[in-house]
Amino acid sequence: AAALAVCAHAQTYPSKPITIVVPFAAGGPTDRVARDLAEALRKPLGGVSIIVDNSAGAGSSIGSNKVAKAAPDGYTLLLNHIAMATMPTLVRNMPFKVDSDFEYLGLINEVPMTLIGRPDHPAKNFKDLTGWIAQNKGKINLGNAGIGSASHLCGLLFQNAVATDMTTVPYKGTAPAMTDLIGGQIDLMCDQTTNTTQQIEGKKVVAYAVTTPKRLTTPALKDLPTLQESGLKGFEVTIWHGLYAPAGTPADVLTKVNAALKVALKDADFLKKEEGLGAVVVTDKRVEPAEHKKFVAAEIAKWSPIIKAAGVYAD
Ligand code: MLT
Repeated sequence: AAALAVCAHAQTYPSKPITIVVPFAAGGPTDRVARDLAEALRKPLGGVSIIVDNSAGAGSSIGSNKVAKAAPDGYTLLLNHIAMATMPTLVRNMPFKVDSDFEYLGLINEVPMTLIGRPDHPAKNFKDLTGWIAQNKGKINLGNAGIGSASHLCGLLFQNAVATDMTTVPYKGTAPAMTDLIGGQIDLMCDQTTNTTQQIEGKKVVAYAVTTPKRLTTPALKDLPTLQESGLKGFEVTIWHGLYAPAGTPADVLTKVNAALKVALKDADFLKKEEGLGAVVVTDKRVEPAEHKKFVAAEIAKWSPIIKAAGVYAD
């Protein structure tokens, strides 16, 4: 009877609103991707309403854990990013297992990061910034979204690359962090272009460099040097976002959501929004659940030694 119930459920799925949990504060880069994707998912999921639930904190482990423990019925999904690959190394006593507590629904996009400074920062380019860092050791405040977040990872690698420890100021997301940066409360931040493009265009912050190996083509970002060409050899961080469901979600439901994701990733409006913010939507096999899972496992293996070599700690 239970099997029949599950099967029936899958046939009628979705028959009520779907919640996508975003483990960071509203208005930030992860939230941006989730809201734009939710818009593109509605039609392929039969017009059902899709609610974005910002369950922020602890570098995304609070929201991720909420989904890991949610009913495996397809009505609570998680949209998270590279934190799924950094938390296993950075966060002690993780309340969930990235490989076994989730079903993988496909990779969504890849997003560059930018190193930015408060608008009144005396350093207006990367060369001046390195001089300023040297003269201000012990007095630098670097914003991030908590241990394990993308901004935390990039900040760690940056501190390691310039051999300078900075005071890191954690927020529930880089939206509140950006407010404080623009307000001058913190000096620097490394954040995704999905959150920084508009601020850079509006000259609300000083933009120093991008974290990708190649310069970007987005009009507002195309003149930004890479950190590699600015002298930080091998510095490369690109943030990817994926979609997840609780382990045990029925296969038919997973197939329906993955099929809808493939349609959404080809949605012209979604593609236009992503491109305008410097993001690249996934078009390769990583949109397949098995390949998405393999990719995350490879990313965990890639980032673990890098994080350990950067001399970093768990929380
Ligand atoms: C992060 O820094 O990991 C997140 O992108 C922050 C956010 O989405 O608010």
